[in-house]
Amino acid sequence: MNTATNILNVLDYEKASQSRLDSTANDYYSSGAMDELTLSDNINAFTRIKLLPKVLRDVSNVVTSTHINAASLSSPVIISPTAFLGMAHSDGELAVARAAEHSGNIMICSTMSNYPIEDITATTNTDVWLQLYVYKDKEATLALIDRAKNAGCKAIVITVDAPFLGHRERDVRNQFQLPDHLHMSNLHALGHGKLPDKEGHSGLAHYFDSLIDKSLTWRDIKWLKEHANMPIYLKGILHPEDASLAVEYGIDGIIVSNHGGRQLDGSIASIDALPAVAKVVNKQIPIIMDGGIRRGSDILKALALGAQCVGVGRPVIWGLSHSGQQGVEDIFRILQSELSLAMALSGCANITDITKDLIVQKML
Ligand code: LAC
Repeated sequence: MNTATNILNVLDYEKASQSRLDSTANDYYSSGAMDELTLSDNINAFTRIKLLPKVLRDVSNVVTSTHINAASLSSPVIISPTAFLGMAHSDGELAVARAAEHSGNIMICSTMSNYPIEDITATTNTDVWLQLYVYKDKEATLALIDRAKNAGCKAIVITVDAPFLGHRERDVRNQFQLPDHLHMSNLHALGHGKLPDKEGHSGLAHYFDSLIDKSLTWRDIKWLKEHANMPIYLKGILHPEDASLAVEYGIDGIIVSNHGGRQLDGSIASIDALPAVAKVVNKQIPIIMDGGIRRGSDILKALALGAQCVGVGRPVIWGLSHSGQQGVEDIFRILQSELSLAMALSGCANITDITKDLIVQKML
């Protein structure tokens, strides 16, 4: 079914998933903040970047495998964290974790997963990293880190771009709530497992307003890093100055991301933020970039502009809602095969052959 000619690419999965998802869930996953300018620019920015392919480079054996710190990857693609995957499929995060293992990729699991982190790491042999929201309730935050560590997570990814939730008007209109049968399993025992009801509001925005720490600074990151004693990534870096500070604070890697256009509308497309960040980081720590990856050639562009790998969020949800684990595996298969072709057609047999000069420089 997935190889039928009606599903050829990631965007076909997007279309197919619309009819399968409940409309409130679909609005939650697909929406951006405010006028959704950044949401669409994440995609449009890739169309403005032009490739300058090389030829006669022996591409008879293209190899997409790579690594990010200690983790090996079959292709430079990892699963960005997305919340509430139980709304997309009853196997939710479990299906995604199994697909990640099958595809040779790794998964960043959301703090706000529906399945508990222990069940997710137990169902897969691939690396799972836990995305962390820092709660005002410090005990809750530390308990999440400890659970991740005990469950065998290999890293903590602190989301730093969401002291408040971006204003997503579709969620406000829907008065977004989780379906009754779902809750946030990692937070249940800490008393933060349900979204509050507030007339005329997104339940998630209200949850963020009351529970997420708005006073977070670099000092807290240092403290969290010491407590965690495991690799720490920061997700939501766009400004080169912040990237520089991340290196200074001994962070293990950064994710150049605007949170899928869901936070500050009008902020730069992630791919447009990448070159300046890559310049200051100067290969001292790995850079992951997410936002708008829909084609293998987008991955090629991101790597040429300085990312070590990319993250995909919504495409995973589309595959999951279409056909569970198999759909997510198919998303990875498509992206890997498109990347492999794009590499061959630009003269790159290996990931290390992907260099900045493959991009038309006036674009930078
Ligand atoms: C979101 C949060 C939960 O973007 O990351 O909806």
